[in-house]
Amino acid sequence: MELPFDGAISAFYEHGAPSHVRDAIRSADKDDILSDSYPHRERLSSKPYEKDFAALQIELVKMLAWVKSSGTRVVIVFEGRDASGKGGTIKRFRENLNPRYANVVALQKPSDCEQSQWYFQRYIDHLPSGGQITFFDRSWYNRGVVEKVFGFCTDTERDRFFRQVSPFERALVDDGIHLFKIWLNVGQAEQLRRFLDREQDPLKHWKLSRIDVDGLKKWADYSDAIRETLERTHTTEAPWTVIRSDDKRRARLAAIRTVLSALPYDRKDHDALGHIDESICGGPGLWD
Ligand code: ADP
Ligand code: AMP
Ligand code: MLT
Repeated sequence: MELPFDGAISAFYEHGAPSHVRDAIRSADKDDILSDSYPHRERLSSKPYEKDFAALQIELVKMLAWVKSSGTRVVIVFEGRDASGKGGTIKRFRENLNPRYANVVALQKPSDCEQSQWYFQRYIDHLPSGGQITFFDRSWYNRGVVEKVFGFCTDTERDRFFRQVSPFERALVDDGIHLFKIWLNVGQAEQLRRFLDREQDPLKHWKLSRIDVDGLKKWADYSDAIRETLERTHTTEAPWTVIRSDDKRRARLAAIRTVLSALPYDRKDHDALGHIDESICGGPGLWD
């Protein structure tokens, strides 16, 4: 089988990765969590996961019914490094939701025309109408992180972004939009394990891009850009929820519970909702 990007990911694993990352991957069993600092040693097994997940799906359906009947608008921004689980988490949110009222926005890199516009303009086009939830798979936070790491914006443009982003988000919230900002935090070894898996599995090749491959060598630059972004954009009106996503199942449950807990939908079943695992889900203090 031909590997995407000429096997650049396995080559990085063999020759470029820090030795502790390579050792962690090599010595791990399938269900081991690779990050030493993660508060659980093993992945959540499928039985308890499926049970909680099924209960939460019913709550999500009730929640969307309330969004529709009340004309509420909900925005959920998903951010995180490549392979942190954004797409997979969004997919689990939407499994039983009518796509007409629960849509995903995953914008491409800006076109020349969009480059000439106000930076937030193309995102505004996709904000929800009453009765809708919009899932942003990446967002305006590209300017805080990937654009910085790859030099896609100037320092002046990035400073302007930081000046404007909190007033922008405040305006959304002030207008009645429920805004969630979820940061999925994945460790370096787990990220590389997921990339290796994507490289080997033809059904996952579409998830890989040149940015992912070139980004392998930029872990520390990403860390700096992420730290700064979280510090400068965690506000009272629009706080970040950081979720450690080394275990995808725990991360998905925590993300869904975060949203459901905060929305006052009808007939909420608190037993079904369960508890947010605060050892992996909280404020920016959980990052780093
Ligand atoms: P994803 O991880 O979302 O599948 P990529 O890893 O390819 O996508 O890219 C990460 C992000 O960087 C995307 O949101 C993409 O739009 C953005 N991006 C890629 N190239 C550029 C560019 N030249 N200028 C600005 N943003 C870019
Ligand atoms: P590690 O694999 O232990 O190097 O860390 C994996 C990820 O978890 C990194 O992105 C760290 O920023 C983050 N991290 C490390 N320690 C902690 C901690 N005590 N609490 C929350 N996140 C952490
Ligand atoms: C995912 O795992 O869905 C990612 O967060 C998307 C990506 O690879 O950038």
